[in-house]
Amino acid sequence: MKVCIVGGTGNVGVFLGEELLRFGHQVASFSRRREMVPVRIRDTRVRLWFGNISDKEALREFFDGEKPDTVVLATAPERHCPEKYLPGHINVFELCKECGIPRLIVCSNHMGLDAPDGRPMMEAKPPHFEWFVNIQKVYGEEARYLKEKEMDTGLDWLLVCPGLQCVPFGGYTGVFRVQEDRIIVADPDNPDWNTSRISYEDYISFLYKEITEPKHSHQYLTVSY
Ligand SMILES: NC(=O)c1ccc[n+]([C@@H]2O[C@H](COP(=O)([O-])OP(=O)(O)OC[C@H]3O[C@@H](n4cnc5c(N)ncnc54)[C@H](OP(=O)(O)O)[C@@H]3O)[C@@H](O)[C@H]2O)c1
Repeated sequence: MKVCIVGGTGNVGVFLGEELLRFGHQVASFSRRREMVPVRIRDTRVRLWFGNISDKEALREFFDGEKPDTVVLATAPERHCPEKYLPGHINVFELCKECGIPRLIVCSNHMGLDAPDGRPMMEAKPPHFEWFVNIQKVYGEEARYLKEKEMDTGLDWLLVCPGLQCVPFGGYTGVFRVQEDRIIVADPDNPDWNTSRISYEDYISFLYKEITEPKHSHQYLTVSY
């Protein structure tokens, strides 16, 4: 399969790209900074494109040039301009439809989920990382946008996020829970967010499966132990 990773030089993008190449798939990356490539991407098979997701024409060239089976959207909001995150992502949603791309997987964050008591994680107790509020509210906004505006448009989207503790080098176990809309913690009646946890390897393996053998669509899923 051919997979375009928007944000292919990021933590998730690099890990996922390596996994896809390992199993013989083709990978193309889109990101802004060329200078990050030698630091982040070691495999010369990754096809490299550069631009900003705010630039729809640059994205169109990327999608038209690659004609992927799946687009994975793995950018992150930036501290100084989190308000640019959703409009950039909406450009990707629109272009996936315009360019006839069969599937879109968005790498989201647990802060867009609901807490076990049904409140949004952003308002949940115990409070969590208050200083990130402006950045992290984009994830809930994006989930609402997809559910309200892209439910019936024909765009085959899936939002996926790992648990709060997504730890590199935790190893592949293949054993984790998948849940829709609500964070997974060990004890929902007395939640400790640090028990929301998964290794990068298991998170990436879930993304890989949803790319190569899609099972879910139009859902906001989280994966944790
Ligand atoms: N516990 C959790 O819920 C959890 C854990 C890990 C990751 N995540 C989520 O997964 C997503 C990806 O995280 P990450 O750690 O991989 O992020 P990251 O390391 O910051 O990587 C972001 C990638 O997107 C690119 N990018 C950023 N803004 C861009 C723009 N405007 N146009 C084009 N490319 C752009 C970056 O490259 P350039 O800067 O060169 O453009 C980079 O390749 C985030 O939303 C993050 O919250 C969630």
